Amino acid sequence: MTLITCIEDLRRLAKRRVPRMFYDYADSGSWTESTYRANEADFQKLKFRQRVAVDLNNRSLRTTMVGQEVAMPVALAPTGLTGMQHADGEILAARAAEKFGIPFTLSTMSICSIEDVAAHTTKPFWFQLYVMKDRDFINRLIDRAKAANCSALVLTLDLQVLGQRHKDLRNGLSAPPRLTLANMLNMATRPRWCAGMLGTSRRQFGNIVGHAQSVSDMSSLSSWTSQQFDPSLSWNDVEWIKNRWGGKLIIKGIMDAEDARLAASSGADALIVSNHGGRQLDGAPSSIAALPGIVDAVGQQIEVHMDGGVRSGQDVLRAVALGARGVYIGRPFLYGLGALGEAGVTRCLDIIRNELDISMAFCGKRDIQQVSREILLP
Ligand code: GLV
Repeated sequence: MTLITCIEDLRRLAKRRVPRMFYDYADSGSWTESTYRANEADFQKLKFRQRVAVDLNNRSLRTTMVGQEVAMPVALAPTGLTGMQHADGEILAARAAEKFGIPFTLSTMSICSIEDVAAHTTKPFWFQLYVMKDRDFINRLIDRAKAANCSALVLTLDLQVLGQRHKDLRNGLSAPPRLTLANMLNMATRPRWCAGMLGTSRRQFGNIVGHAQSVSDMSSLSSWTSQQFDPSLSWNDVEWIKNRWGGKLIIKGIMDAEDARLAASSGADALIVSNHGGRQLDGAPSSIAALPGIVDAVGQQIEVHMDGGVRSGQDVLRAVALGARGVYIGRPFLYGLGALGEAGVTRCLDIIRNELDISMAFCGKRDIQQVSREILLP
């Protein structure tokens, strides 16, 4: 088997094994992709302060996110179409996360449904909610997440409208894929993926098809999104969603200190500094650049999490140093999944844990909860 030493190895293998349409869906940003690139590049600008001759025995990465114990300050991000990177992808990723002891977040736009993931896991997972025009459907979705014992609701606020991703338009992204000549030729070069898909019945949006009356044609993701996502979403909606849900609430998509203050006063338990992986407002700053200002504004009132551009344990450490209580990884686990299924997600998490642990030690720290801005050079 190919030797996998880092997330980049998983990405290369996934690119060979996943049909182009779905690989591109994951590995792209909106418009010029400048924010998408900045998310990764800005991490590299943060330099560590190396310390030596510090006792490094008994190191610990354990902490909590929204009061729940985690083996390291990392969660699997909600990602659309995960079950198209690999057959039954959400179930496989959720299993890898639960064995590892970190949260898995199921997207509204998943292939495997809430109930299906719950039936194939033993510990509670988190559910990410998109607000759509059909409020009855949203109410039912919240109730379904409650019934499935989900232990946090991640409410995404930055996708009322959709950023254009050129590759998705060119590839005619849809789930299941349309059987055009180009798609069939590309899929013919991905035999493992095809065999997996032929062996599962999970090939369309499991949370939506059959649950939302207004949804019949799922053929085009972007037109469906622009028809269904609610452009009128406001902080008043956050309030009724919070009340209906009644559990831990995490608000995703905050890039501005003023919005962070609104999130804190909404009574949410955490917010996620996120530009949606550079997939929405191209030209926005990277998440890691936005993080310190938001921590300064609301860090005393609400837990601050972040996502976007994390490709290593060093990046997790940098984000934690700048005040993130937890960090979400999306593409790294999708690459693992596309490359090697559940074992690839586990490999991804092992790589990140090892990089995080050793890098923390080089900075002279034994406990992730002691990590602060002092481990970075000014
Ligand atoms: C949806 O969450 C997307 O970014 O495609």
